[in-house]
Amino acid sequence: MIGLGIETSCDETSIAIVKDGKEILSNVVYSQVKEHEKFFGVVPEIASRSHLIKINEVFEKALEQVSLSLNEIDYIAVTTRPGLIGSLMIGAQFAKVLHCITNIPIVDIDHIEAHFYANFLERKESPTYPFLGLLLSGGNTAIYRVDGLNQLKMIGNTQDDAIGEAFDKAASILKIGYPGGPVIEKYAKNYYNRDNQESFFGKILKDSQEITFSYSGIKTALLYLIQQNPQIDRNKVCYDFQETCFELIIRMLKKAIIKTNIKHIEAGGGVLANQRLRELLNHLSQEMNLKIYYPSNKILCTDNAAMVATLGYYYFLNGYRSNLDFSVSSNSFYKSLNS
Ligand code: KG4
Repeated sequence: MIGLGIETSCDETSIAIVKDGKEILSNVVYSQVKEHEKFFGVVPEIASRSHLIKINEVFEKALEQVSLSLNEIDYIAVTTRPGLIGSLMIGAQFAKVLHCITNIPIVDIDHIEAHFYANFLERKESPTYPFLGLLLSGGNTAIYRVDGLNQLKMIGNTQDDAIGEAFDKAASILKIGYPGGPVIEKYAKNYYNRDNQESFFGKILKDSQEITFSYSGIKTALLYLIQQNPQIDRNKVCYDFQETCFELIIRMLKKAIIKTNIKHIEAGGGVLANQRLRELLNHLSQEMNLKIYYPSNKILCTDNAAMVATLGYYYFLNGYRSNLDFSVSSNSFYKSLNS
């Protein structure tokens, strides 16, 4: 079965063609990073316009890379939530027009759920449940309990900034580049293996009974640190910032594992591209005897349409078809356990 995936929820325009939910035939990603760089963050209107300009070219490239015609595609899977409204609309409308021309059924997809299916795609395995979904990206920092297709319950969320957003803002304060994640990782690496001095952010993490994240405090602490010490060692600041941000992830993940007794974790989102985070997760996996998965291919960590096509495959197999009057939403449908 052949699926066409469309992803335009934020600042990547992506179209992919995936066979049987497991084999990527093409996965074209146009990243808008250069367009947002000078603003140190994604500007929604620039993002929407860029999707509009690029989507046809991305679509043509995705088709060119496979020797298939449109009438061999069985379903179109498109991200309709959560994300930037103007950006989502471009992908959603593109899917609707394709449907009008070809009559190929559409499956509307929640981007959060799709991130976890990037792992099944890469492992070429069918999903098994339950698992904990750990999503760490520019827009989300959350842990979900996943009991099946369309059965996600949020069990932990950020109270303010997402972790990727915190990395981006920290790099902007430090004036070291955009996006912040890779550049902070690079500076932090320069500090590894030095005699470990006390962390600049030593006391910032408070103990909490709840599974909850917060990154605005550390971002503000970093701002004051730089204002008061303009000549400070950037490498150590980045190292301490990264370690503190990840310590919170590991603490909360441990809590979620203990609370749910689920030892199978599927992680996704752009921050999973970070080598240090991968090391910490691998260490936790050994310590607690867990199965933790994240995409080894960094393209599958960040936003991409292959994961959308893969999740669409399982919905399509289950008989799900979207009504054509579907809309888009800035919010995910998957809310907290208490709501
Ligand atoms: O999944 P993604 O494409 O989502 C959104 O656009 O929301 O992730 C992008 C985020 C950015 O905030 C970026 O700074 C972060 O992922 N990121 C990283 C790394 N590579 C990307 N964060 C930490 N370390 C990295 N190596």
